[in-house]
Amino acid sequence: MIGPRSFLEYARYRYLKVSLVLLLASMAIYLVEDPPGGRSGSSWTGYGLGTLAALMIVWLMWLGLRKRSYRDVGAPLQGWTSAHVYLGTSLLLLVPLHCAFEFGVNVHTLAYALMCGVIATGIVGVGVYALVPTSITRNRNNTTLDALLERIAEIDADCRVAAENLPDLHAKAVITSIEETRIGGSLTAQLAGRDPACGTTRALRSLRGSEIDLQGDARLQELKLIELVARKELLVNQIRRDVRLKGLLDLWLVLHVPLAFATVAALLVHVFVVFWYH
Ligand code: HEM
Ligand code: HEM
Repeated sequence: MIGPRSFLEYARYRYLKVSLVLLLASMAIYLVEDPPGGRSGSSWTGYGLGTLAALMIVWLMWLGLRKRSYRDVGAPLQGWTSAHVYLGTSLLLLVPLHCAFEFGVNVHTLAYALMCGVIATGIVGVGVYALVPTSITRNRNNTTLDALLERIAEIDADCRVAAENLPDLHAKAVITSIEETRIGGSLTAQLAGRDPACGTTRALRSLRGSEIDLQGDARLQELKLIELVARKELLVNQIRRDVRLKGLLDLWLVLHVPLAFATVAALLVHVFVVFWYH
């Protein structure tokens, strides 16, 4: 995960400057032009700025999707994100300049509204990136997810050994804990942060509630098993909290991307309508 400062300040705010220059130039052209029919999306400036905005949207989409393949290579990801964020935000003003601030209840304004949604979720995303590293590490005590999962696998193995010479009930509890503990899954399951039917919780309950009266070594073995399963439950719940937090943090992206595609769809309709009905 990259920090927001790194991409917001990238190359001394290069893309912030590029965006500002672009906006100033567009405003200047907009103000200077005095077309016969009045300013509108169908003046030369209107067509020019509309085409520019549409090209930028296509580029932002391509950039966004393309970024995935660059993630691991460490290519100039910060530069890409920086350009994405600043040029993306500049559309907020560029499009109104294109249509001379004329809006209505129609598909054209729908395209703009959807685009505003993309930009708003994008801004939330940048805010989230600003908060992520600290909150994630705080919750995870600096242990990575992989390490936690490995720990759980070890506990599972220890449980199997501990249950070896114990009654069936204990062996079954271990199997329930191993086979019926789910982490993650659907978006709602991830966001829930807990599983009421968790196999580990059920196993622990059945072990603690066992009415079999064990003596000596067997009792010690049973106590050890209970301790292992209890420790596993703590770890599983910790991972679920992590997954939930991460899911909440990614929610903006779950909106950002579909809204971006919807914007492109509405944009195609907009251009089609404009050329065929005017
Ligand atoms: C190839 C690019 C584009 C072309 C050729 C184009 C063309 C036009 C034209 C000719 C108009 C004037 C329509 C009229 O006078 O009734 C217009 C208006 C408008 N355009 Fe575009 N446009 C383009 C891109 C965009 C983009 C990217 C957006 C926003 C995402 C957008 C949003 C609007 C809006 C909101 C209006 C005002 C509609 C109204 O009067 O209610 N356009 N466009
Ligand atoms: C109309 C404008 C925009 C379009 C079409 C657009 C589209 C996209 C797309 C397709 C992705 C790829 C998501 C993925 O597959 O991971 C993306 C990612 C992203 N967008 Fe946008 N976006 C726009 C504007 C913005 C704005 C204004 C911001 C912030 C102010 C922003 C912030 C982000 C961030 C932070 C990412 C994730 C980058 C990463 O994972 O490294 N976007 N965008």
